[in-house]
Amino acid sequence: MADTLANNAAAEPLLTAEITGERATNKKMKVGHPALEASNTTGFGQLSELQKDRLRHKVDIPDILKVPHRLIDAGERDMNNMGDILALFPSLSKGSLKLCHLGAAGGMEKTEGPPMNVGIVLSGGQAAGGHNVIIGLFRYLKYRHPGSTLYGFLNGPRGIINNVTKVLTADEISKYANLGGFHMLGSGRDKIESPEHLKAAADTCKALDLDGLVVIGGDDSNTNAAVLAEYFLASGSKTKVVGVPKTLDGDLKSPDVPISFGFDTACKVYSEVIGNIMVDALSAKKYWHFIRLMGRAASHVTLECALQTHPQIALISEEVAAKRVSLTDVAKQIADCVAQRAEAGLNYGIVLLPEGLVEFVHDIATMIAEINDILAKGVSPEDIGKVESMMTDASRAVFSSMSIGFQKQFLEDRDPHGNVQVAHIECEKLLIGMVEHELKARGGVKFSGIAHYLGYEGRCSMPSNFDATYCHALGAAAAALLGAGKTGVMAAITDLEKPATEWKVGGVPIVTMMNMELRHGKQKAVIKKALVDLDGEPMKAFEAIRETWKMNDCYRSPGPIQFKGHDWADAATITLSLELAGGKPILLRDANDPTAF
Ligand code: FBP
Repeated sequence: MADTLANNAAAEPLLTAEITGERATNKKMKVGHPALEASNTTGFGQLSELQKDRLRHKVDIPDILKVPHRLIDAGERDMNNMGDILALFPSLSKGSLKLCHLGAAGGMEKTEGPPMNVGIVLSGGQAAGGHNVIIGLFRYLKYRHPGSTLYGFLNGPRGIINNVTKVLTADEISKYANLGGFHMLGSGRDKIESPEHLKAAADTCKALDLDGLVVIGGDDSNTNAAVLAEYFLASGSKTKVVGVPKTLDGDLKSPDVPISFGFDTACKVYSEVIGNIMVDALSAKKYWHFIRLMGRAASHVTLECALQTHPQIALISEEVAAKRVSLTDVAKQIADCVAQRAEAGLNYGIVLLPEGLVEFVHDIATMIAEINDILAKGVSPEDIGKVESMMTDASRAVFSSMSIGFQKQFLEDRDPHGNVQVAHIECEKLLIGMVEHELKARGGVKFSGIAHYLGYEGRCSMPSNFDATYCHALGAAAAALLGAGKTGVMAAITDLEKPATEWKVGGVPIVTMMNMELRHGKQKAVIKKALVDLDGEPMKAFEAIRETWKMNDCYRSPGPIQFKGHDWADAATITLSLELAGGKPILLRDANDPTAF
């Protein structure tokens, strides 16, 4: 039998090595319990028993990777503003703009090829499963040719600019299998965009003699991957660039990229905590919990968590924007629900809200845009009076209704471009204050609000079985694309509604996912952020049921992520089930398969 990814000797140690989880430990102190045996390993921590167990977990591998295969070009996608976008990527446009996927090779064909040098970089915020992408990539490269070399760029794109790498070995990366975090390499938010940085990146790739560069990132980082691919092609560099869809926000997706990795795990972590808070609310019967969820602009995380847990209210930013609801109206709607439940003797409840809500509420969005303009004219953010005096009457009314603390959040917390960091605005607290105010105006209704923010705790959890398996396949896909000489493409795993062994492995040209957008006053070709589709199946399912949740306590507590023991440990999100399988649960293995679970 030909060498395969599954039985390749070079790859196998990753699956079978005796992994203790302790690396380079010089000294151990026995203090009476295994959890308290201190090891002085830096930058890695001390592994728990569950982490050690996860190191031994074997992910399922799509069957197509286990047999000789080759890359097949498939159909094309229609593009918006095709002419404008392709004009910005003239070299990439000369190549194929077709989707592609692996198909079984003919009898004589072999998947093996000459050794390759490949670099990999983690870009942007952490998302569970990143380490498995690196492992999937590594294993495929070694399967293709044991002499291949994988370089990890340290601390994000800046590692490429400054050529800071480490050579990744099977021994090194096996310590991170199925574990959360990006600490194998570190990540960063630098962008390789300026002519100097593009040139520096090309110099690094030349110095390392890279055949390929894999960029694991969100929409902006993958846009950047296409820019790099174009630059390398145009400047005669041999380095091909492939992207991998990462972001817990779930907003990097298209018909060809069903989901970004990290979304599944983050939603499961948040849903566990929400479920716990719900049971507390039900027990204490005295608090309204306002829970803001990470996810930046899009509300996918909030929607999935709502479907998982059944809160009284879940605000969906995209709907708030479409209906042009003001923040005051949002507060009034919540106050209506609080008052109704109070009449029924239910002085508690749960409200979920997305991190980026304020940006979608039209009155606040207008106010933010005005503040950005005023500060861009050089007015100091500390001069609150001056900023207020320069606003329109409508925005001034909104601004002056806020406490000084919130006014400062809108003025002082700016990103490097001078824009308000909307994700940092404590909208849950703002809303609690507004609901309180509204209920007082109505004559006083018993209401006690507690604010929560669930964010960073969801990004670095041990990846769910779904993310662990999906990420490994994405890494292998990226390597297969590079092996076939593709550039400017994003790794894509499709047919996710089927068992993982039947997943389709392929890629999509990044430019076909782009549209033209105004960014910092200039039209730019960027990957379109996939916001919640108000006509999509997850939203329809939510709309059909949400009224019931207001007065009835239908709370659902999914509990911690499960890794073993029953088929639900392998279930993907409800969002994915509704989008891809008509609501039928998606499991990594066929539940009827007697060997499954
Ligand atoms: P990516 O888009 O890079 O994956 O980052 C997602 C995210 O976790 C957002 O949900 C959040 O708003 C943001 O990063 C936080 O950024 P930072 O880690 O820089 O505080």
